[in-house]
Amino acid sequence: MTASGTSTREGSASGVRVIRDLDELRACLDSARAAQRRVALVPTMGNLHAGHIALVHRARELGEVVIATIFVNPFQFGANEDFDSYPRTFDQDLARLAQARCDLVFAPQGATVYPHGPDVITRVEVPRLGDILCGESRPGFFRGVATVVNILFNMVQPDVAVFGNKDYQQLLVIRRMVDDLRLRVRIEGVATVREADGLAMSSRNAYLSAAQRERAPAIHRTLLEARAALRSGERDHARVQARGHEALVRAGLRPDYFQVRRANDLEPAIDPGDALVVLAAAHLGKARLIDNVTV
Ligand code: PAF
Repeated sequence: MTASGTSTREGSASGVRVIRDLDELRACLDSARAAQRRVALVPTMGNLHAGHIALVHRARELGEVVIATIFVNPFQFGANEDFDSYPRTFDQDLARLAQARCDLVFAPQGATVYPHGPDVITRVEVPRLGDILCGESRPGFFRGVATVVNILFNMVQPDVAVFGNKDYQQLLVIRRMVDDLRLRVRIEGVATVREADGLAMSSRNAYLSAAQRERAPAIHRTLLEARAALRSGERDHARVQARGHEALVRAGLRPDYFQVRRANDLEPAIDPGDALVVLAAAHLGKARLIDNVTV
């Protein structure tokens, strides 16, 4: 179905309509909004897996028009990161989105998103929340994410936008941006989709060799151990963090951090009543894996 409710196969052999042009996108969504149809957005960088498809399914429940964006955002990659090698699987992504009953795919060119280039784009900074944890290991990463998500929100003007809980800090950064900039969009988080052995699904899992793939579930296992300790009354967060860090090293990973934080703002917890999240990031071969569990 198109945003206006008629069937179409234009734009792609897969059955989902692909739009690359901003004026076309706006015209299409204006007619949907005029017909009182709620627009649900799933922003992605493509290379879709079951985790992304769960976001589309949630969007399908929340909106009458489901739109996914596919844009590998150069502004959120550091100079030595994997922008060039990031897996691009457009045709396969379209087939998956069509199967998940996504209505529209917006796949803009770089110049549509960054008309004067990413280096001089007007930026969105989320201080503190965007500077800690992954923001410390990947300086500028959350500036890149907040900037592009804000641009996508301005282009699509969705009623609701759906993101994965796996990227827990990203989700909080986006919620904070929406709050601070008084944007009129509801942000919905969706539970992490995992492989049978617990590894959180991620496009970057493709970088793991067979031997590394066998070691990778240690990250989730270690998070679950930390959660069990906290649930059974452990109050010494430094000890939980040190144990988690050591367990990841023993499993052959190179941790960036293993931290117990306050779930609402990722600050160190002070009050015993604080809701907690345990977050980990670790390198394994060419992949940098992240995961978290709420307590
Ligand atoms: O989570 C992602 O895939 C990206 O960070 C996002 C939200 C699509 C922004 O480029």
